[in-house]
Amino acid sequence: MSPKRFAILASGNGSNAQALMESFRSGFIPAELGLVVTDQPNAGVIERARVMGYPLEIVERKKISREAHEACLLEILHMNGIEHILLAGYMRILSPFFLARFPGIVLNIHPSLLPEFPGLHAQAQQWHAGVRVAGATVHQVDEGMDTGAIVLQGSLQVRGDEDAEGLAERILTEVEHVIYARAVVILLERMQRGFDIR
Ligand code: GRF
Repeated sequence: MSPKRFAILASGNGSNAQALMESFRSGFIPAELGLVVTDQPNAGVIERARVMGYPLEIVERKKISREAHEACLLEILHMNGIEHILLAGYMRILSPFFLARFPGIVLNIHPSLLPEFPGLHAQAQQWHAGVRVAGATVHQVDEGMDTGAIVLQGSLQVRGDEDAEGLAERILTEVEHVIYARAVVILLERMQRGFDIR
């Protein structure tokens, strides 16, 4: 069986994308990373993909409709033989139009223990709520906001002496960068066992 072919979509700094690229490169994820895509021409992920030597496409949204942008994205993914997508800080919600046309799995990472604290600024939401345990979730993407089936979660104890930024940094480095690659491995194993994931 040919190895699965993935793309990473990221809009920002790209530290999760970096952790994923390293996991593909080392063989920890037994699959191919075929493409990195960003919608932001100044995103930090661009330099990270260049340094790692992975092909990169910039698909800007400027002056075109959301549908046209997503159609363009679908075309690029198809041309590159991409079967599955990993969203890593991709700041656009994929529409039902896109999800109905993309045949593979789409995973996302969200910095809270879903279904608690969906949406933006989840780390700050957790800190302000005074939770004792915070974390992150890798989940399948469906048409809702952070609602798809959970693949893997990781948590940490909130310290009494850290501010919201400190907590966000620890969620990112101690949880997100660790669980995303593991979630992909779990997904691949489920596929290999013949389970219908979608
Ligand atoms: C991460 O916290 C991720 O969970 C959220 O956006 C952030 C992206 O950070 N969806 P980075 O670009 O991977 O550093």
